[in-house]
Amino acid sequence: MEEKLIINGGIPLKGEVYVSGAKNAAVAIIPAALLINGKCTIENVPHIGDVEILLDIIKQLGAKVTHLKDNTIIIDAEKLTSWKASYEMVKSLRASYYLLGSLVARIGKAEVSFPGGCDFGYRPIDQHIKGFEALGAKVEILQGQVKVEAEKLVGAQIYLDVVSVGATINVMIAATLAEGLTTIENPAKEPHIVDVANFLNAMGADIKGAGTDVIKIRGVKELKGGAVHSIIPDQIEAGTYMIAAAATCGDVTIRNVIPKHMESVSAKLLEMNIDVTENGDWIRVVGKENLNKVNIKTLPYPGFPTDLHPPITVLLSRANGTSTVTESVWDLRFQYVDELRRMGAHIRLEGRLAIIEGVKKLSGAPVKATDLRAGAAMVIAGLSAEGSTEINDVKLIDRGYEHLEEKLRRLGAEISRVRK
Ligand code: EPU
Repeated sequence: MEEKLIINGGIPLKGEVYVSGAKNAAVAIIPAALLINGKCTIENVPHIGDVEILLDIIKQLGAKVTHLKDNTIIIDAEKLTSWKASYEMVKSLRASYYLLGSLVARIGKAEVSFPGGCDFGYRPIDQHIKGFEALGAKVEILQGQVKVEAEKLVGAQIYLDVVSVGATINVMIAATLAEGLTTIENPAKEPHIVDVANFLNAMGADIKGAGTDVIKIRGVKELKGGAVHSIIPDQIEAGTYMIAAAATCGDVTIRNVIPKHMESVSAKLLEMNIDVTENGDWIRVVGKENLNKVNIKTLPYPGFPTDLHPPITVLLSRANGTSTVTESVWDLRFQYVDELRRMGAHIRLEGRLAIIEGVKKLSGAPVKATDLRAGAAMVIAGLSAEGSTEINDVKLIDRGYEHLEEKLRRLGAEISRVRK
């Protein structure tokens, strides 16, 4: 049944919120666990839509998944029974492409439905394919399925033509069991890339340099598992709450964060005149009525994350003067703009540039989540707007935010979920 969120806006968020494990680390670590000829324990796994789908997929491939308390799971991939993931299995999950890297490394073949167009545009996988081919695999796309086969993978020097999170992780996964040394040049450096490397190293892999300009992977014969890995805090969820605190003129301490991962966001909030303080594993954000205009450009890490582009635009909607957001990762990420205009925002688009003229207030309206992060932006808009906001297509938000309403309610928000 379809569900929607109803928010009664205008209440400053106050209190503490605890950040969950990182979605984009979890959706890579779960397929990477298929490399292991045995069991691994993963802690801090978020209960979110994308993770549930992926766990179902790996079960269909023969892995056993045991849920323990406190967001801990055990994956036992000793006996894999299939190397195929059909369209039906993977259609709602782009991260299914990591199954290609793990299955071809572990059993020499993989067949996964092509990750199709998505909520914000075409998502090519040419750099993943380039990496697999460099390692000696044969790659074919037939009837919408990507087939990767290799009798054995052999280490290679790979230069990525675009900085891609997915290609970096996929090549790293595949190279873990390849013969000899693989180097990835021009890799992405997002925190979850380091987390996936730490997970694989804990299970017996030999990966150095994740998070730097060159990653070196010396192939090992087998991963035996047996270790425990705890997933890092979600950088984007943390940023979402930081922006929500600022947008509602609230006072929120965000706990279980790595402040270093949030530097680009903290810097922009400070530039807008918002108070941001941090220490150890927390960040406190105190919002202000008077906000300075700023210009933002999304970039690969350590730049400002594209996944926080829609949320930060909501905040800029009530800054003094004209701000801009330039999107340099996903060209079709602007679908949320029409929804935000329905709430009174003044935004003009010029190609990849959003020009935002600050208004005094947003006002509640019926809107929809056009993708996961656009949905998060609608929630922030609803929380900060005057009156009631109704957000449709909530399923998209559930893909990536654990216990969203509970966390917001604890901060004083009036938010409820109703079935249509
Ligand atoms: N690209 C290519 N060829 C490739 C791969 C990517 O041209 O083979 C291009 C893309 O078109 C894009 C850019 O490179 O313009 C970056 O894409 P990237 O591969 O880094 O994105 P991704 O791995 O598909 C992950 C996150 C996204 C996040 C991006 C950028 C996961 C599962 N998804 O996607 O997260 O926006 O990195 O940081 O890790 C989200 O969580 O809401 C989300 C969309």
